[in-house]
Amino acid sequence: MNTYVTGTTVKQLREARNMTQAELAERIGVSSKTVSKWETAKGLPDISLLQSLAQALGISVIELMNGEQITNRNVSANMLRCKFYVCPVCGNVIHTMGSAVVSCCGITLPALEAEEADAFHSVTAERVEDEHFVTVEHPMTKQHFISFLAYVTSDRLQLVKLYPEGNAETRLQLRGRGYLYWYCNLHGLFRQKI
Ligand SMILES: [Fe+2]
Repeated sequence: MNTYVTGTTVKQLREARNMTQAELAERIGVSSKTVSKWETAKGLPDISLLQSLAQALGISVIELMNGEQITNRNVSANMLRCKFYVCPVCGNVIHTMGSAVVSCCGITLPALEAEEADAFHSVTAERVEDEHFVTVEHPMTKQHFISFLAYVTSDRLQLVKLYPEGNAETRLQLRGRGYLYWYCNLHGLFRQKI
């Protein structure tokens, strides 16, 4: 993840669009020598050029800055392919239906990769009438706790925020097959079919 536009990104995107340095330069009103300098890390595009540079390269400014082009294959926005992002600074929880560039507190956040439950983060889901009573076997201290539980089905998300010194448990309405997610502030995201 970059903190500003890099020459490699400009070069890759320009070549992918079969554009010469001169053609790109003309579109944004600079000389081809300037583009060449950017691509060889001997200079950086002025911030005032970012909008037109991104436009000429066919991507958004934020993608240009990150050096990552987002191609969202989840066009039907199937919730089962959703992603979670958690800000390590303020604890913000962000849910998206597909790929996105997400930032919070000035940090670009990676999509969390969910792991299988381990012995220290095991979950039990007990069916009580039309609900699941879900409990995570885990400490709930201020330093180490489960910060949210989520139940995702193809068309719905139920997200429950949990707090330190509370209980790592909740009731979730039964909605058919889906995934249960839970997030430990120290050990990350876990997932289990439910
Ligand atoms: Fe943990």
